[in-house]
Amino acid sequence: MNLFDVYPLLDITPVKGEGCYMWDKNGTKYLDLYGGHAVISVGHSHPHYIKRLTTQLNQIGFYSNSVQVPQQQELAEKLGQVSGYPDYQLFLVNSGAEANENALKLASFVTGRKKMVAFKKGFHGRTSAAVAVTDNPKIVAPVNETPNAIIIPFNDLALLEEQLKTNEIGGVIIEGIQGVGGIHVPDPEFLNGAEKLCKQYGTLLILDEIQSGYGRSGKFFAHQYSAVKPDLITVAKGMGNGFPVGALLIAPEIKPWHGMLGTTFGGNYLACAASLAVLEIMEDEKLVENAAKIGDYLISKLKNIPGIKEVRGLGLMIGLEFDQQINDIRHVLLKKHHIFTGVSGANTIRLLSPLTLSQEQADVFLEALAATVQ
Ligand SMILES: Cc1ncc(COP(=O)(O)O)c(C=O)c1O
Repeated sequence: MNLFDVYPLLDITPVKGEGCYMWDKNGTKYLDLYGGHAVISVGHSHPHYIKRLTTQLNQIGFYSNSVQVPQQQELAEKLGQVSGYPDYQLFLVNSGAEANENALKLASFVTGRKKMVAFKKGFHGRTSAAVAVTDNPKIVAPVNETPNAIIIPFNDLALLEEQLKTNEIGGVIIEGIQGVGGIHVPDPEFLNGAEKLCKQYGTLLILDEIQSGYGRSGKFFAHQYSAVKPDLITVAKGMGNGFPVGALLIAPEIKPWHGMLGTTFGGNYLACAASLAVLEIMEDEKLVENAAKIGDYLISKLKNIPGIKEVRGLGLMIGLEFDQQINDIRHVLLKKHHIFTGVSGANTIRLLSPLTLSQEQADVFLEALAATVQ
C-alpha cells in the first residue's frame, strides 16, 4: 500500500527531539521554529511529559466515556485555574476540527438557529461544519457547501451587525489570531464590539484558540488582550504537545443534556495525562511569560531586518510578510542554517516555535534570516 499523497513532504526524517531541537536520521540538528504546526508547546520530549504519559500507560491506557475518569475532572480544574475560566465547563475531544465542529453544533442546539458567521482568511478545520466556515473554497467539498455559513470581512463590526440583525445567526466564530490565513490579529475593539452585538442578538460568540491559545500569544488565550469573555472557546494543538487532544470550554450558562455531544476517544486517560503535563510544565517554567518576552524581543528585532514587508503577531505567533515568494528563503533557512519555519500563503513565513524558545535561539534565527534576505 502507498500513502495517500496529499502533502508536499520535506525530504527530512526527524528521529529525535529535545526542547526546541530535532535531529534527523543523518544526525543533523535543526532548530524547530514551527513546532509541528504550533503543536509542540512545552518542547520536544520533555522529561515531565514523558513521565506523566508513561506512568499513566503503566496504570491504564484507555476506557470509554461510559465510566468515571477522574483525570478529566483534574484537567478541568487545572485548565480552569490556569486559563482564567474556572467556572466554565470542559468537553474533551481529539482534534481542533472536532472542537470547532462541536462548538458550532452546540451554538446551533442552544440558539435553535442554523446560520453561522465566520471571517475572511479564517481557518477552522476540515470536518463538515468547521470547513464550511473556513474561507478556502479549495478545501470545501460539495457536501460541505451550505448557505448556513456566512463569511464576511475580518474586523468589520458594521457588516457583522447586518448579519446579526436578521436574528438568524446561531454563532460567530473568530480565531484568537488568524493563523493559516497569515497571522492577522483582531482589533480588541472588534472583539469587544462583536461580543456586545452577539449578546444583543442572542448569538453565541465562539473563540477559536486552537492555534493562538495555550500561551502562544503571550497570554493564555489571545482574546485575553481584549476584555471579551466568549460563550465557547476551542483549543487543541499545544494542549497535548503532540498527543492528539482538543477541547471545548463552555460558559456556565449553557446547560447540557445527556447525549447532546459525545465521543469515544475524547478525554481518554493518556490525553488527560498529556494535557495535565503540559499545564504543569507551562506553570513551572513560566512559559506564557516566556512567550510574551521572547515574542516581544523577536518582533522588535525582526522589524529592523530590511527586506521584510510586514511583521505581524503576538508572542510566539509571528508572521513575516515579504514582497516576494518565500520558498527560497525557507529553503536556505532549512538547508543551510538548519532552521524549520512555517508558511501562510505564498508570501508569509510563520513562526510557531515551542514556548520554551530562548533569547539565544531567537538570536540564531535572527542572524540566519538577516544573512538570507540581505
Ligand atoms: C485556528 C485553527 N482552527 C482549527 C484547526 C484544525 O485543527 P486540527 O488540524 O487539529 O483539526 C486549525 C489547524 O491548523 C487551526 O489553525
